[in-house]
Amino acid sequence: MPIVEALYAHVERKATSWHVPGHKNGTVLNGLPSFLEWDKTELAGLDDFHHPEEAIYEAKLLLRQIYDASDSHFLVNGSTVGNWAMLAAVASRGDRIYVQRNSHKSVFNALEWLGLSPVLMEPDYHATGISGNVSRETLEEALKLYPGGVAVFLTSPTYYGESAEIDKWVQLTKSHGLPLLVDEAHGAHFGEAFGVRSAFELGATAVVQSAHKTLPALTMGAWIHERFTDDERRRLTRALQAFQTSSPSYLLMASLDFARDYRQQFTVEQMLEIRNSHEHFHQQLNQHTELDVFTFDDWSRMIVSCRGYSGNQVLAALAKQGIDTEFALGEHVVCILPLRLLPESERNAWIEQIKQALDMMKTEGIPDKRYMEQPIMGKIKVSSLACPLDQLERTVAVERSFEEAVDFVSLETIIPYPPGVPLLLRGERVTQAHIEMMKQYMTTSVHLQGGELLYEGKLRVIQEGITE
Ligand SMILES: Cc1ncc(COP(=O)(O)O)c(C=O)c1O
Repeated sequence: MPIVEALYAHVERKATSWHVPGHKNGTVLNGLPSFLEWDKTELAGLDDFHHPEEAIYEAKLLLRQIYDASDSHFLVNGSTVGNWAMLAAVASRGDRIYVQRNSHKSVFNALEWLGLSPVLMEPDYHATGISGNVSRETLEEALKLYPGGVAVFLTSPTYYGESAEIDKWVQLTKSHGLPLLVDEAHGAHFGEAFGVRSAFELGATAVVQSAHKTLPALTMGAWIHERFTDDERRRLTRALQAFQTSSPSYLLMASLDFARDYRQQFTVEQMLEIRNSHEHFHQQLNQHTELDVFTFDDWSRMIVSCRGYSGNQVLAALAKQGIDTEFALGEHVVCILPLRLLPESERNAWIEQIKQALDMMKTEGIPDKRYMEQPIMGKIKVSSLACPLDQLERTVAVERSFEEAVDFVSLETIIPYPPGVPLLLRGERVTQAHIEMMKQYMTTSVHLQGGELLYEGKLRVIQEGITE
């Protein structure tokens, strides 16, 4: 682990700090946390994040071996910056991008601030209301209706752990000469050993992964694997230098080095054993509790529900018993389990906690049926924004009540967080389904970001209404 080793060596010198950061190796005040000793800046022996030649470079070489990438890049601002940089690598102001509608807000922010023009591809929905992947037919329709785009941007796996048919997308995008960029934020653990292939192994042009989400890296730690052209790589490098800090955290980078090492040691046998223990737990839950459990492709991410109760109620009940889960919507709760063996004693203890949580939920709460009235989103499979993003700045804004805002063009991007997938985009026409969905979210613990007056029941829209 080259970065970890360089950091150890540096700390062992016990040198006096006459440089940044201001905590001076955690010595400036008594009682500062001891980990500050490890919080270094780019000093001799610790390499240069934006021009790596020593430890960071060696760690990068090891990282790219994982997927045999042309190059891999560490990121210290999450997949967020990775999404920005991948788009900047392949597109210039005004270019058209085919983008999955249920992508993370970082993708839509990047499209807006990079001056790109999105063609929105709606995913298919499961009968349960869970959003899935975009079908190839939808991409074909997008290519036909909006020709001349420069790249395709997918999110796979989804927040629920469902993977797209990347091999087929690779064929299709190749046949149109388009790079395929994939936000694999939730799939840093994917690969042959895990049993679900990474989009990069399946031929995507560039893939971003949040190492911090499913591998043992510190929050914000992520990386990109790419097979860009030399020209695109130059642009990617420039973008990463521009968008990322000039003071990268060594704690974070060391944790990425560690996560890379952990990921590199996965074996098929070890993952099979871990998978068995996870599946055993799913069976136990289905048999011994009132939870219904299922998974999509990612078997370490289970989706649970309790008949008659909303996901939000289940999430709150589990939290009261000391089990914090990822996110709830409709009747489901998404749970990301530890990627390690789940010993029987631990599984049994969890089952007891869950039983208590559900018993308490039933005695204290009444069944909540509101989640059943989930509005159908995404009837139109391919669309563009009603008002181009570059024109939005020159429009006049008005505030309208939710009901009066229907059919007007939104000036706000409304984002349920988590998961951070925008419900309504800036520049998109407001529909009744958007409003119903927003109201539904407002009855849950999911916070809605992005609307200045949302909690007063208002949206900011363009004065003239639809400008299509
Ligand atoms: C699909 C997806 N992409 C990108 C991101 C952003 O990742 P990060 O938090 O690493 O910046 C998230 C975060 O939740 C996400 O869910």
